[in-house]
Amino acid sequence: MQNSCLVCEEKDNILIIKLNRPDKLNALNVSILKELNSVLDNYAENKNIKVILITGSGEKAFAAGADIDEISKLTIIDAKSFSEYGQGVFNKIENFSKPVIALINGYAFGGGFELALACHIRLCSENAKMGLPELNLGLIPGYGGTQRLSRKINSGRALYYILSGEQMDSAEAYRMGIVSNVYSSMNLFENGLELAKRIAEKSVDAVAFSLKAVISSENTSMSEGLSIESSLFSLCIGTENFIEGTSAFNEKRKPVFNKSNKE
Ligand code: COA
Repeated sequence: MQNSCLVCEEKDNILIIKLNRPDKLNALNVSILKELNSVLDNYAENKNIKVILITGSGEKAFAAGADIDEISKLTIIDAKSFSEYGQGVFNKIENFSKPVIALINGYAFGGGFELALACHIRLCSENAKMGLPELNLGLIPGYGGTQRLSRKINSGRALYYILSGEQMDSAEAYRMGIVSNVYSSMNLFENGLELAKRIAEKSVDAVAFSLKAVISSENTSMSEGLSIESSLFSLCIGTENFIEGTSAFNEKRKPVFNKSNKE
């Protein structure tokens, strides 16, 4: 599928979404966010697609932020809905029932970093640079960055990056646990695809329940989280994939999940 600001490609059971404004370092304008929103809606119930990869077109950037040209024209009233719209799209990613993996192939600043933070897993290239430089524009992050960065590192470290506007490189992002792995620019996409393929072979039910349980841990107390976990654990037992997984173990063979899931 070819949109104006997004390029989407289905490869096996994986949807690859490329942010596609390379001349503007893939800055996120409202059109790109609307396209992303509708792609997510279109694929939410698509049983063939089991994992989504998001990356940036071109050599330099994942996304260099929300579009500063658009921001500069906002009124106070527009700004609230502008921020809420982006937050809504990124919440949709965070709560998506299929894993969404960000492949950070260069700059991920402002809204671009906030998009990556909303994804379930982040991998980056060695040359990636991340940060929330909004204060340099007299702004604060408005697409969830103040909340997600503080939950992922801690409020002191999040404030360090937000208030200083300092960029973090790939080694620092890895050290803080923001990205799970760092690859050379040449190998990032291939490794992202490999990870997506591995996940796509697992039970779709167990994958979706894992996402739900882990994401809920960021917003619940330990006891609520444990209660969610045991409910989802018990739901697994009722699935064909559980029967397949345990049968395969007993029969000493590789499980073949999602047999009744093919469209
Ligand atoms: N919004 C709109 N346009 C952007 C943009 C953004 N967030 N980030 C980059 N661009 C545009 C530039 O204006 C430039 O367009 P032009 O060629 O029409 O002038 C083009 O992308 C290339 O950017 P440029 O600044 O020339 O590249 P660079 O390699 O010298 O610098 C950055 C790269 C990322 C350091 C720099 O572009 C930058 O600081 N961008 C803004 C980052 C930011 O503040 N993000 C938060 C926004 S809320």
